Amino acid sequence: MAQLATPPGLTTTKSPFIEQAQHDGQLYIHQPYELYTSENHMAWRLLFARMGEYWQRYANPHFLKGVESLCLDPNRVPRLDDVNRFLCPLTGFRAKPVSGYVPAFLFFDCLRNREFPTTITIRDANSLNYLPEPDIFHDIAGHVPMHTDAAFAEALVRFGDCAHTAAELVANISDEHEQACRLTSMITAMARFFWFTIEFGLMESCDGLKVYGSGLLSSHGEIAHAIESPEVQRYPIQLEWVINQSFEIHHYQPLLFTVQSFDHLFDLVGELEKWMRAGKLNNVAPGEPQISEADLLSFLKH
Ligand SMILES: [Fe+2]
Repeated sequence: MAQLATPPGLTTTKSPFIEQAQHDGQLYIHQPYELYTSENHMAWRLLFARMGEYWQRYANPHFLKGVESLCLDPNRVPRLDDVNRFLCPLTGFRAKPVSGYVPAFLFFDCLRNREFPTTITIRDANSLNYLPEPDIFHDIAGHVPMHTDAAFAEALVRFGDCAHTAAELVANISDEHEQACRLTSMITAMARFFWFTIEFGLMESCDGLKVYGSGLLSSHGEIAHAIESPEVQRYPIQLEWVINQSFEIHHYQPLLFTVQSFDHLFDLVGELEKWMRAGKLNNVAPGEPQISEADLLSFLKH
């Protein structure tokens, strides 16, 4: 198949606008909508069109309702202002454009303020399938419809509280090494919990297992695999397992966890915070994900 020559516009890893913002140290940016090229819009259209039947089959009903309430245009990259006009009145959440990676504390703190850091670039129309970085399709079509659900939104806000608790708990530790170890362990636990719920979670329903994790909801290849494949192990979520379970991001997930409802998820985040306060997240199993210096500093210097 002939490769299309994609001009940069707002294409992931090829956007001069984003490079400039990163160079200038601007994390929170605006969405320069006029920069999207016809190829960028085509990528959105192709991605959106092929998810449709999978969503109907595998997505949880809260997500399907969310896609409808947001009135997402199947043909064009959405304007964040338009998305927010529909989203804000429902749960107070809004999509907030960012130029790239958001250090962990800032990310969770945004959730606490009902803001969702949102990538504005979109993957190259020539390589729709695999992308290690998040893009606007993952963020807006995968995450944001979930934010229209009040119970789910509350669980996200609760995550932000956990980040504040972690920062508070390590603030007065004078031994820097001890402080870094404890904080790394707590952030690892939070990141794993987030991964196995918000990104890759499954939910039980009277209609069988449904997907609510955004990594799955934005993946044409993995959404059916997650529900149907006999190679995937699926277990009712257990906090002590999830926080100690490492994961790899570059292949389909072999292990997934189920929740019963978003109220269940909310209670689990509350439990996570309780465990944090009780010191039960101070020594989680080593392994992925790696916590960066920037993540640690974001907790220590907020
Ligand atoms: Fe995500």
